[in-house]
Amino acid sequence: APAKKPRRFRYFTYLWRLTYLSAIGGTAYLAYGVWDLRHPEEQFEPDPSKKNLVILGTGWGAVSLIKKLDTENYNVIVISPRNYFLFTPLLPSCTTGTVEHRSIMEPIRSITRHKQAAVKYYEAEATKIDPERKVIMMDDNSDVKGTANKTEVPYDMLVVSVGAENATFGIPGVKEHSCFLKEIGDAQQIRKKIMDCVETATFKGQSPEEVERLLHMVVVGGGPTGVEFAGELQDFFDQDIKKWIPEISDKFKVTLIEALPNVLPMFSKQLIDYTESTFKEEKITIMTKTAVKKVTDKTVEAEATGPDGKKTVEVMPYGLLVWATGNAVRPVVKDLMSQIPAQKDSRRGLAVNEYLVVQGTKDIWATGDCAVAGYAPTAQVASQEGAFLARLFNTMAKSEAIESQIHELSSTLNLKPGNPGEIATAIEAHEKQLRRIKDIKPFHYTHQGSMAYIGSERAVADVSWLNGNFATGGGLTYLFWRSAYLSMCFSTRNRVLVVVDWLKSKAFGRDVSRE
Ligand code: FAD
Ligand code: NAI
Repeated sequence: APAKKPRRFRYFTYLWRLTYLSAIGGTAYLAYGVWDLRHPEEQFEPDPSKKNLVILGTGWGAVSLIKKLDTENYNVIVISPRNYFLFTPLLPSCTTGTVEHRSIMEPIRSITRHKQAAVKYYEAEATKIDPERKVIMMDDNSDVKGTANKTEVPYDMLVVSVGAENATFGIPGVKEHSCFLKEIGDAQQIRKKIMDCVETATFKGQSPEEVERLLHMVVVGGGPTGVEFAGELQDFFDQDIKKWIPEISDKFKVTLIEALPNVLPMFSKQLIDYTESTFKEEKITIMTKTAVKKVTDKTVEAEATGPDGKKTVEVMPYGLLVWATGNAVRPVVKDLMSQIPAQKDSRRGLAVNEYLVVQGTKDIWATGDCAVAGYAPTAQVASQEGAFLARLFNTMAKSEAIESQIHELSSTLNLKPGNPGEIATAIEAHEKQLRRIKDIKPFHYTHQGSMAYIGSERAVADVSWLNGNFATGGGLTYLFWRSAYLSMCFSTRNRVLVVVDWLKSKAFGRDVSRE
């Protein structure tokens, strides 16, 4: 008999086989993803007599709804000025070129084309919602306009998922002089401005004060957007800019200003401390209990509250100013709220009930950052709300179909008195099915945790797991952060592009050319 292989060797063989099989499985999955993306099935036009379901927006809430909706049940019309879905969690990485912007965009045309029944898309901004007449007014605000660029779209059912705009609290100078971080254009503007400040600082004869100003990067708002951006920016400087332009090494400075006593208020105390100590190591200055009151083209004026409660005003010259102080209500939403008496006390957006119906309206639902459902304005909440609405609308369509079947059977029952037993049983079965379908539970949010990148290949995560929570920070959390975000990317294409970007920036460094 052949000699038995040593146990160690057998384990190695098993491991090798497992790796081999996973590689084959992974490649097949990837290949299918790519093939599927390029070969959508034939689409059919939905029955024009079905209800018009209008969806405003192409963000987290809207796209999650579109993805799970059985589009054959409605005439679905999507209206949004942005003809792509944006994977916002990786937007801070675009400001420094760790990830390229097109890698986190997914065309809405590709998303709608993959639905069984066709979906109409209009690249336009909804300017007014008229709940009385049940119409949406929309404008084509793009650079290229045809003779038709302003019109109305009627709806039977409407989902408002337009997100939010940047909060400025009316602070003078913010709109004129700072960069925001919400859209692709913002990230591109920041990326360009960072390098512009660096190159201008090295201009022949630049005074030391001007160099100091130009290389002072100020971030206002210590929420996750501000923290992640500050971390990415310091990485860009430490890992790339410093290598190519060493003469500015000791002059580049990142300052994060936060009005509250600490940054990342939604994270646990342990992770807040970890973030603050990591920022200290990275040489990012954190100014807490400091509220910006005024902005000019070159300075930020902030009021700091000392430990004794005394207030002092500091004026800081800056080169780049990034404003990340949270969300404000969009004008189209404000206008809708002003038309509905039940919305008069709502401040942060459209107050919705547990089925996400806009309070005080009929046939209007809202999801995401423009809805006030008692949850934080996050992608997690928006996408769960979108998925909930898809289930609700699929169910509504199903129950309507069953109701009409019952109606048909009942009329047969009256017409054919000779065969009542069979029909009555069928009606009963349908009614039972209808009761089961109609028993839709209200929206329930499941919090899976919060994560944020804090620079120097470290991340913090408050994760809900097995009915418990655990808080973790560091290098391993960073790998978890990367893999979690990679798995959440919209498509195989996005995933592949993001991985390639990460490898590219690791191997060759980030590109310091100013576009
Ligand atoms: P959005 O995704 O903002 O989409 C709104 C859509 O409406 C857009 O398509 C817009 O073009 C369209 N629109 C705007 N105005 C109109 C109009 N008048 N008519 C028609 N359409 C209109 N959340 C997390 O949970 N995890 C994260 O890691 C995370 N990271 C983030 C990083 C950054 C930099 C930012 C800015 C946010 C981050 N968020 C994160 C929050 C998350 O992005 C939002 O909560 C989420 O985008 C909300 O989804 P939404 O569908 O309500 O709005
Ligand atoms: P935010 O609302 O979370 O934080 C804004 C911060 O700015 C607040 O802490 C506020 O105190 C501060 N601020 C306001 N005015 C100020 C002033 N004048 N001077 C100084 N500080 C001021 O906003 P953010 O970070 O844009 O996030 C918006 C939403 O998106 C949040 O719900 C957040 O959870 C979510 N998000 C989640 C991310 C993640 O999970 N990794 C990443 C980015 C955003």
